[in-house]
Amino acid sequence: MSSPHINADPGAFADTVLLPGDPRRAQHIAATLLDDAVEVTDVRNMLGFTGGWNGRRVSVMGTGMGIPSTLIYATELVRFYGVRRLVRVGTCGAVDPDLRLGDIIVALGAGTDSRVNRIRFRDYDLPATASWPLVERVTRTARARGKPLRVGNVFSSDLFYHPDAELRPALARMGFLAIEMEAAGLYCAAAELGAEALAVLTVSDHISHPGGMTPEQRETGVDDMTRLVLDALTAD
Ligand code: HPA
Repeated sequence: MSSPHINADPGAFADTVLLPGDPRRAQHIAATLLDDAVEVTDVRNMLGFTGGWNGRRVSVMGTGMGIPSTLIYATELVRFYGVRRLVRVGTCGAVDPDLRLGDIIVALGAGTDSRVNRIRFRDYDLPATASWPLVERVTRTARARGKPLRVGNVFSSDLFYHPDAELRPALARMGFLAIEMEAAGLYCAAAELGAEALAVLTVSDHISHPGGMTPEQRETGVDDMTRLVLDALTAD
């Protein structure tokens, strides 16, 4: 049986799925990092793979950009395929002036301009927070290898090209580390679905400086972060 947007066989996904936005990145992670990875879904070219890391079964699947697309896949992975841990591995634009390109952020909480969480929760404010055991795993692994990591809030925007010129200064005033487009939706979907979720992000650009990472820097940076996340998720 497949689901509306995933054509994998039952049991084709591991209980932990890494979720990059770009399906080509999912393919890259499967081909270059995972052991013996096989493609398990390709509906709309939103590729998903299952392979091994540290002797554990792990899957990786693209989500597309933004909360609506991400929630289609997150929901179906949990409801139809029994996935328990949804871990976004993505990029973000830094808000905090101390962050540099390539820095890694663990998104502890996520604010948003999206209404999806209010739609979920009778128009009340649902706290979009990461799953603590996943935060702990990633921070512990980073600490053990002396890898610097920032843990804090991000802002998940529905609009990459945002019309509110005051949004960015407001985010800086409120201590947000970075802006991206998925974490807040993912966290609250996981809460409702009874799954665990985390977003780990590499800084690919800075909102107050022009220019971002080159494609090569982006690949190396995201690969390093992905290895750290894979180690953290499979460590015991
Ligand atoms: N805004 C939203 N999402 C992003 C950005 C940004 O500046 N950079 C990387 N993802």
